[in-house]
Amino acid sequence: MKMIVAVDSNWAIGYEGKLLARNKEDMKFFKETTINNIVIMGRKTLESFPGGNPLKDRDNIVITRDDSYTREGVYIAHSVKEAVDVSEEINSDNREVYVIGGASIYEQMLDLCDEIFVTKMDYEYTADTYFPNLDEDSRFTVSYTSEDKEYPDGKFRFITYSKK
Ligand SMILES: NC(=O)c1ccc[n+]([C@@H]2O[C@H](COP(=O)([O-])OP(=O)(O)OC[C@H]3O[C@@H](n4cnc5c(N)ncnc54)[C@H](OP(=O)(O)O)[C@@H]3O)[C@@H](O)[C@H]2O)c1
Repeated sequence: MKMIVAVDSNWAIGYEGKLLARNKEDMKFFKETTINNIVIMGRKTLESFPGGNPLKDRDNIVITRDDSYTREGVYIAHSVKEAVDVSEEINSDNREVYVIGGASIYEQMLDLCDEIFVTKMDYEYTADTYFPNLDEDSRFTVSYTSEDKEYPDGKFRFITYSKK
């Protein structure tokens, strides 16, 4: 299982239920990476998408504690374990499974992931949700760093962290 996340210079990922930045190249990378694969997310992340709609051309698994929660075009799971079980049940064709947030789901599923695709922005946003600082996590090591790239708020780069 893999994770994909965009963080600022403090490992912040969100503010008031929304993303911190608009970064077209990152959106493209996210789409190209996850397309035709399986994505797992928390209920709040699903509801942060336009119209609260699932991501197209991907199987969307949404985790909620609400037993009556339903959404068209979405697999519902009521625990992390159930989400993993569903991802295995629907994955007879060996697709990648990406955990796509938000903070609570990243934190609970980090240990299940062997590769984390981090888009690291050199900017400090106002934020209320954070990703764990992988530079301080001895389980992970940087296995790839792209060249510096530009977006409207400054520089960013793509970094892959792999489990040691
Ligand atoms: N920068 C990025 O790459 C990125 C990516 C994704 C999201 N984000 C941002 O992150 C923020 C949202 O993160 P968040 O932590 O507030 O919300 P979240 O993780 O998306 O969703 C939280 C919800 O997931 C459900 N949940 C969590 N753990 C569960 C468990 N063990 N069992 C059953 N259900 C569980 C609960 O849903 P119920 O309340 O329905 O029970 C909980 O309220 C937003 O600002 C979003 O824009 C950023």
